[in-house]
Amino acid sequence: MQRERLLKVLVIGDLGVGKTSIIKRYVHQVYSQHYRATIGVDFALKVLNWDHKTVVRLQLWDIAGQERYGNMTRVYYREAVGALVVFDMTRLSTFQAILKWKGDLDSKVALSNGRSVPAVLLANKCDQWQLGLCPKLPKLESFSREYGFVGWYETSAKDNTNIDAAITCLVKSIMSVE
Ligand code: GTP
Ligand code: MG
Repeated sequence: MQRERLLKVLVIGDLGVGKTSIIKRYVHQVYSQHYRATIGVDFALKVLNWDHKTVVRLQLWDIAGQERYGNMTRVYYREAVGALVVFDMTRLSTFQAILKWKGDLDSKVALSNGRSVPAVLLANKCDQWQLGLCPKLPKLESFSREYGFVGWYETSAKDNTNIDAAITCLVKSIMSVE
């Protein structure tokens, strides 16, 4: 018999870092240069045949970057079991906001065993290396370990780099917490 798991996963990070683009790439295999800011929250669902006995229904909550200044995140975060925390490699301010997002997350939601929800760090827009990525970014390996991320990836929604890998890493981590 197959079992089904519904996983609520948050996608958070500052304005314009590429959250919606990452989700569109992952769920619909499309990408657009056009920027339209998300208002409030958006949803997407991806069904994964995880293993021979498990179907995962991955519910992605695309939280608008501007919500960091609002007071709705507590409502949006409720019952989440994982998060993708995204910044834009070309804008240092979005990296500096990572810890604010992670702090917001950990202060408002936790697993039933009291531990923080698994989070993966996404350094998005890695395709922009020619135009100059931020020179001041620290080593993400040690940064992500220090701040309790379960993994980190340089991603590009534009070129479809590491989007699957990053989300698979998160789902693995979620599924390993029983
Ligand atoms: P909010 O909804 O305002 O919080 O923004 P968001 O994080 O959802 O950003 P969105 O996905 O709308 O992308 C913002 C802009 O960045 C758009 O113009 C995208 O085309 C562009 N963008 C997103 N991902 C990438 C990427 O991997 N590489 C490049 N070069 N541009 C990207
Ligand atoms: Mg958006």
